[in-house]
Amino acid sequence: MRSGPFTLLLSAFLCTIGCSDDGDGGAGGAGGQGATSGTGGATGGTSTSAGGTSASTSGTGSATGGTSTSTGDASTSTGDASTSTSGTGGSGGGMAVRTPAASANSLREAGEKANPPILIGAAISGGGLNNGDYKRVAAAEHNYVTAENEMKWDALEPNPGQFSWGSADNIVNWARSNNMKVKGHTLVWHNQLPGWANSLSGATQVEQAIRRHIENVMGHFKDRIDTWDVVNEAVITDSDTGVGNPRMRPSVFFNALGDRFLDLAFEIAREQDPNAKLYYNDYSIDALNDKADYVYEMIKGMVERGVPIDGVGFQMHIGPPNNEAGGADVAANLRRFADLGLDVLISEMDINRCSNQVTAEEQLTYYHDIVEACFVMPECKAITFWGINDGRSWLNGWSGALCNGQSSQSLLFNDQYQKKETYNRVMDALMGR
Ligand code: G3I
Repeated sequence: MRSGPFTLLLSAFLCTIGCSDDGDGGAGGAGGQGATSGTGGATGGTSTSAGGTSASTSGTGSATGGTSTSTGDASTSTGDASTSTSGTGGSGGGMAVRTPAASANSLREAGEKANPPILIGAAISGGGLNNGDYKRVAAAEHNYVTAENEMKWDALEPNPGQFSWGSADNIVNWARSNNMKVKGHTLVWHNQLPGWANSLSGATQVEQAIRRHIENVMGHFKDRIDTWDVVNEAVITDSDTGVGNPRMRPSVFFNALGDRFLDLAFEIAREQDPNAKLYYNDYSIDALNDKADYVYEMIKGMVERGVPIDGVGFQMHIGPPNNEAGGADVAANLRRFADLGLDVLISEMDINRCSNQVTAEEQLTYYHDIVEACFVMPECKAITFWGINDGRSWLNGWSGALCNGQSSQSLLFNDQYQKKETYNRVMDALMGR
């Protein structure tokens, strides 16, 4: 019942002998033409091919046999032997996979005991930490924290050069006291900016503001946070589902600096912390669509220019207002980014049931297969759920999520903080079932 064809295909590749768990796979497959990187729109019908041969440094051999991506609904396949279901490509030999725990009593334990381990995260809100049940479930089931709103620019730097750390510090200190790591979210984002930042103009002003913000924020959390979403959601399409006319998003940053604001932000972040993991994070890039293709070319360009980027977060907001993504397509998409030599992670997962656009059964299948797609890849470092329980989901009150006052039923715990069937399906995927 829970083992669809995708599961069986992956299971066939689960390593018992001869696979190394410490390999990060190959940093290959980045040959081929660079389509649009940066500005300019790859509009409709673009196809790019990256026919590189993967080089494995771990000796496990991650041979990616030619990746082809097509926008729109044309055929899409990635030649990854362990994940391709579309019938083409795929001459990989001995792809490394993560080995599940033998037993586990919580999501975090399943992640900690997997080989290699994988972080299991949740978005945590300051308000949530006032509730005993919320805190208990959050700490029992997760070992990774993203502040839902408290580390955004408007919260941390409400006035120019004047910083406000209290709410963010509370979350970070709570996380650390429960042996949870924290990812900083987010340094440069067009949304949740204070009014003064949105009023900046001119390259010099904007660059100075970015520099001051990153330096102060990373400096403040230096010994407590070693992973950052450096740039968030820099790309848009005509639809929030990632389809149509992918392009750089107009913002105070892009308008003043052009697409070089991305390189700049990562370079400043690297100056601040030579050892931190620096990530790009976006929504509706989860499977294979116009936006994912565009972001892939953008990130590939950054890697080729030597920009200090370490990974990409796939938010995995499934259902309205964002994309839907099946497990096989997610696997193929994560694989092509990992083959650039990057970490990949699921950074904000929830699956919205409002308006029944995603049925109950589809939700369970998505939860299982998407988590599995990440779990089997050693390069996939974390799976973060965007909240703890349904009652507190951002989707419930978000126009576009089609909830109209109803619960989005999007997470793993119900309003009484009891486990739902979605929890069981996620646990199954983490346990290799
Ligand atoms: O704090 C104020 C409160 O004082 C006021 O009374 C109330 C009235 O609307 O608003 C409160 O602020 C809200 C804030 O969440 C805190 O609850 C904002 O209106 C609301 O817009 C904001 O939404 C957040 C959203 O980001 C903003 O873009 C969601 O909580 C948060 O879950 C969501 O998270 C984002 C990620 O950071 C990036 N990826 C997408 C994801 C979902 O949108």
